[in-house]
Amino acid sequence: MNPFRYGRVVSAEDFCPRPDLVRQMTGFIKSGQNVVLQGERRMGKTSLLYETVRQLKRYRMLYIDLLEIKTADDLCKRMVKALISMEQQAGLLERILKSLSQLRPVVSVDPLTGQPSVSVDAGIRLRPDSLDGILDLVRESHKRTRLVVAFDEFQDILNLADSKETLAVLRSKIQFHKNIPYVFAGSVRNSMSELFTDPESAFFKSAIAVDVGPLDREEFAGFLAGKFTLGKRVAGKDALARIIELAENVPGDAQELCEAIWETTAYRDTIHESSIGPALELIYARESKGYEAALVQLTGQQLRCLVGLAGMGGKAPLSAAFIQGVGITGPASIKKALNRLIQLKVIFRHQGEYKFVNPFFKTWLLWKNY
Ligand SMILES: Nc1ncnc2c1ncn2[C@@H]1O[C@H](COP(=O)(O)OP(=O)(O)O)[C@@H](O)[C@H]1O
Ligand SMILES: [Mg+2]
Repeated sequence: MNPFRYGRVVSAEDFCPRPDLVRQMTGFIKSGQNVVLQGERRMGKTSLLYETVRQLKRYRMLYIDLLEIKTADDLCKRMVKALISMEQQAGLLERILKSLSQLRPVVSVDPLTGQPSVSVDAGIRLRPDSLDGILDLVRESHKRTRLVVAFDEFQDILNLADSKETLAVLRSKIQFHKNIPYVFAGSVRNSMSELFTDPESAFFKSAIAVDVGPLDREEFAGFLAGKFTLGKRVAGKDALARIIELAENVPGDAQELCEAIWETTAYRDTIHESSIGPALELIYARESKGYEAALVQLTGQQLRCLVGLAGMGGKAPLSAAFIQGVGITGPASIKKALNRLIQLKVIFRHQGEYKFVNPFFKTWLLWKNY
């Protein structure tokens, strides 16, 4: 079986140890300190959270994913579902159903798995102030067994029409939950800092920022090599270094590439740098429809700018060399194209550099000779 995992949370033996970060998070959780966990996508924020709580043992995690959240109603229902599914495991389902009776939760049993699942009456519209009661339940739960309350992709709370009101309710409640560690994880840096440096956000300020950057290269290379040996494959140092470089240090992308290398090699093979090409082609075969769909949305100038970023890198796209290279007149037009590419989520800006959200989209553009 392919031992590489990407695109979902990894823990235990699939988690390349990050002892410093785990220790830091553990300390904050034990002292009830709120944390802002930030880092680019696929760096391993969510996995770090799960792994930390898993190692802690005597804590439970109340995990609420705010990805693509649209309304306060949606937020409340996601919180209720998270609470119910957490308590379900602890066998306290009945009690919580009773306290939430006004939401008319419905429990049904999946005929195939026998697992109970809960839905909340869709006809009831919840408003930000319903959060009040839900957060009271959180505190009650915490009294029984210690909790870590995690809001993932927290920046998406800004999508709500009534985000101000929602944040105010959250803030006013959470500041009284002194012993409960709240973790606000997010990947969109600008929005996260907007949320956490707003002068009105008194309690957000009290949250400590923890940055999730790339894994240590040596350690990660060793971790990946260990996975290859599970299939008696031997991965050379140069190959591993090249994999991590192509993935631009993002663990999720490195694992994706390794997964493809595993698929395109055999038992007892040695993995060389030359093994990477066929694996990339497998990734392109899986993903090129998506890349093409993205290209269709671009104007000629935006495409030239994107190809320029792929070929020349994104450190200085307003330099004379870059402008000349892509044949677009004037930095203003380049700036406009870059902004559009960011808006389309094809690229993002990190420490002044423009980078591809998906590094394989970049290598594909070069491979296709655009
Ligand atoms: N500690 C780790 N060890 C190995 N792979 C990891 C680790 N952290 C993340 N990954 C890889 O990155 C992918 C994305 O991880 P995830 O925790 O969802 O990132 P994020 O929440 O930052 O977007 C995982 O599926 C896995 O392939
Ligand atoms: Mg995540």
